[in-house]
Amino acid sequence: MKLDRRDTPVSHATDAALEAYETALQQLQAYRGDPLATIDAALAQHPDFLMGHLFKAGALMTAAENRFTAMARQSLNDAAKLKGNDREERLRNGIELLVQGHYHRGGQALDDLLADYPRDALALQIGHLFDFVRGNALTLRDRVTRVLPHWTPAVPGYGYVKGMHAFGLEECNQYQQAEQAARVALSFDPRDGWAAHAIAHCMEMQGRIDDGIAWMETSSRDWQETGILAIHNWWHLGLFHLDRGNLDRVLKLYDTVIFSQPSDMLLVLVDATSMLWRLHVLGHDTGNRMQALADIWQARMDEEHGFWAFNDVHAMMAYAATGREAQAQQVMRWLEQAARGDNTNAGMVREVGMPVAKGLLAYGRQDWQGAIDNLAPVREISNRFGGSHAQRDVLSLTLIKAAVNAGRHNLARHVLAERTAGKPESALGWTMLAQVE
Ligand SMILES: [Fe+2]
Repeated sequence: MKLDRRDTPVSHATDAALEAYETALQQLQAYRGDPLATIDAALAQHPDFLMGHLFKAGALMTAAENRFTAMARQSLNDAAKLKGNDREERLRNGIELLVQGHYHRGGQALDDLLADYPRDALALQIGHLFDFVRGNALTLRDRVTRVLPHWTPAVPGYGYVKGMHAFGLEECNQYQQAEQAARVALSFDPRDGWAAHAIAHCMEMQGRIDDGIAWMETSSRDWQETGILAIHNWWHLGLFHLDRGNLDRVLKLYDTVIFSQPSDMLLVLVDATSMLWRLHVLGHDTGNRMQALADIWQARMDEEHGFWAFNDVHAMMAYAATGREAQAQQVMRWLEQAARGDNTNAGMVREVGMPVAKGLLAYGRQDWQGAIDNLAPVREISNRFGGSHAQRDVLSLTLIKAAVNAGRHNLARHVLAERTAGKPESALGWTMLAQVE
């Protein structure tokens, strides 16, 4: 039985296959290079390399798209006849649960594995990203907290584990500890885009607008090669400029780095759509950009609907902002269908996705009270459909503007009080408050 560089047992492995696995893992952890291409090349040489198939299935799942889930299912099928060791069979079980749409059970299975194999970096990373998908801030932090005693600076990949911990700490509002952990991560790999991203979140949540802009602009040279993560990091820079009230600058970033070329990757579409929606509710003209996004959503939704409520409501934003009533109605029917399922997403749809989609659609129809009635009750439990605090803040912004438009100035002031207290440096909060007054 061979061991990987973190002393985790691997079966069916040649030295070359294991070497390729280490390269692919490092690419996955660093968000640089193409881990799937690396592992595919290894599997072409070693088709019975079980960890290669499991790596591929797990990595595909982290993209949180239905089309990649179909590919992950294929990888599991390719590995069905290969018998693994205890760790590999438990990893297979965890990934299978994720492929079946049982994110809570899958996340728990991976945690159970980590109790016995705390340096299984792949199980840790997949689990971490699904803690984000299911909006579980405590596990986002503590899944990493629990394994950290088994990681030392001498263990390869220690920095990336600190980077994951940083994001979990941040989502639990422990900003100082989060930033410290992220800076340790960056001392191991200054190009660690996930750790830089955790610092952006800390500054975002503390309303440190000037710090955030300076941080993202200077660190971008280090994370600009991190693909989709880099696009998300540029989106964070856009958020800082939005808070500063510099909406023209936000649109410039949109055109040059956030959505500089058409993409049908949902993680990219979600960020692009939510940024344009923010500008839309603030009354800033975005030209025909949202129409272009709505076209892409229309092309993708036949395949992606009902997979993750978080994606579905972003499609709804594009339709609501562009008055695509028929497509919006179709999303509602799809959500009703998804709500009847027995997987994790069904619960996300019932608890958050459905009311949020109704609220956004009402907003698009200028039914301000309808938007308030649907968004206000779920805004503070909206973590249950995943994403980060920063991403879900779009719901608060929409609620505030719906209240302003409805003439419900007391309600607008009520919700704005959170913003001016939490982000005293944010011009946006004070500007909106001045409008209400
Ligand atoms: Fe983020």
